[in-house]
Amino acid sequence: MDNKQQLANALSKTVGIEAEELVTWIETPPDPKMGDYAFPCFRLAKTMRKAPPQIAQEICASISLPDFIGRAEVAGPYLNFFANKDTLAKQVVSKVLNEGEAYGSSTEGNGKTVCVEYSSINIAKPFHIGHLSSTVLGAALYRIYKHLGYETVGINHLGDWGTQFGKMIVAFLRWGNGDKEKCGSVRELVKLYVRFHDEAEKDESLNDEARAWFKKIEDNDPEAMDLFLWFKEITLRDVKKVYDMLGVEFDSYAGESFYQDKMQPIVDELREKNLLKLDDGASIVDLSEYDMAPCIILRSDGATLYATRDLAAANYRKATYDFYKSLYVVAYQQNLHFKQVFKVLELMGRDWVKDCVHVNFGMVSMEDGTLSTRKGKVLYLEDVLDASIEKTLEIIKEKSPDLEDKENAARDVGVGAVVWGALYNGRIKDIVFSWKKALNFDGETGPYAQYTHARCCSVLRKADGFDKENIDYSLINDDASAALIKAIGALPDIIKEAANKNEPYLISRGVIDICSCFNKFYFDNRIMDDDAQTRNARLALTEASRIAIKTGLYLIGLKAPEKM
Ligand code: ARG
Repeated sequence: MDNKQQLANALSKTVGIEAEELVTWIETPPDPKMGDYAFPCFRLAKTMRKAPPQIAQEICASISLPDFIGRAEVAGPYLNFFANKDTLAKQVVSKVLNEGEAYGSSTEGNGKTVCVEYSSINIAKPFHIGHLSSTVLGAALYRIYKHLGYETVGINHLGDWGTQFGKMIVAFLRWGNGDKEKCGSVRELVKLYVRFHDEAEKDESLNDEARAWFKKIEDNDPEAMDLFLWFKEITLRDVKKVYDMLGVEFDSYAGESFYQDKMQPIVDELREKNLLKLDDGASIVDLSEYDMAPCIILRSDGATLYATRDLAAANYRKATYDFYKSLYVVAYQQNLHFKQVFKVLELMGRDWVKDCVHVNFGMVSMEDGTLSTRKGKVLYLEDVLDASIEKTLEIIKEKSPDLEDKENAARDVGVGAVVWGALYNGRIKDIVFSWKKALNFDGETGPYAQYTHARCCSVLRKADGFDKENIDYSLINDDASAALIKAIGALPDIIKEAANKNEPYLISRGVIDICSCFNKFYFDNRIMDDDAQTRNARLALTEASRIAIKTGLYLIGLKAPEKM
């Protein structure tokens, strides 16, 4: 059991509040002199009708402390707990060594399914840096929930429906001369799309032509369908290159078009439940009572909308996966859209809508300006990753001229630096991506964490093994070792919190914490000490650090090269 959890259980017995609740109250004091864990008693004052300091006194007198806690001390309204360093060392290090890379895993999710929708790119549109956050955040959540024992379903809700496909066909036939070979990449398709908008400004009739082609797609016309499916094939082929680089996978690519034949029952039900209203020919759900713009279900020409497809998708996911939670990792620009969709589901009587979460996030932009598809000025994620790998290779050549497989390391580190950039801050924050920051091997970056992992590997390689069965934990109770052990021991709790809040960055921070503690331990102590017992204990701690860093990096989607 995890440390905070054990402490929460002990507290629960004295104060009579659920341990699950109490675990969220426990704090980590900024200064270890004030203890390793702190329990604030303010919140008990009301129910216990006593002053917080008195409550702290009473708990202190009656609590039976878990093994790894040496003593408890009252400090005003706080109850501070001091870990017994030797016991904590034994508990944490032996746990990590036994569990290996499954460290921090749990069975809490067994029997429950979490749907994670992420990336959700648009067909024949660029996979640009703006999609980075959705892709890496969602992929991280996917791994995190899996680690906690949940069944996870990764869904790429492709943007593969809408009038723009009519425009694409017009552009392809007119200016691409219908030449599939010449136009067979997303970049070419995007150029054609941009051209369509330029030309349509001068010639209105192009829009009518586009509408006619889209109608043909809707009617399953063979020529139109062939082109539509070809756009999809090209886009998926191009985008999979990026997914491979990022190590990202999906269980389902059911996109918007998949719901074409699943919307009628939803529309019928809305009508039966008297939720539909006619508004200027369009069918809407009026949400003014909830201070929201109406959710448009059918346009006046009867066409369905983005929201209609999301209503069908939500129902389909519930029916297919019977999810415990259904996450939508989508930018905050769509806050209103998801609020509307969730509200309509609620009005339809879907009580499970409470389990649907819009996991929103801020914008990513590059230091040198933002992006717009229409104008064709766009930064492809693939180019960003390639540039990062190239820049990393230069740094590696300089720093580690003797490294054998520099290309491989540069790939892992270069891609990792970009992923890390999107996962080092709370997700709602807008991010301005800077190469200087991302590729700094000494800052709080992915490369720094990977470098620390490689340092652990190097120490262990040179040492040629240690005796895992005979570790004298009293030899790793100096301040630097104790701080490192505490940081490693915190990871399982952090992983759970990351899932609770859908915030993978908490793991990034936890990993950095372990890394900086490890580097302090490394410089303060001679790991290869002359005393065999000391050496053995320090090597065990190095191995535990290596495993914890690697596990943390894996969960947020970074590789951990052994040499760099
Ligand atoms: N394809 C959309 C876009 O790029 C995102 C889809 C979000 N997911 C959803 N279920 N609506 O903006």
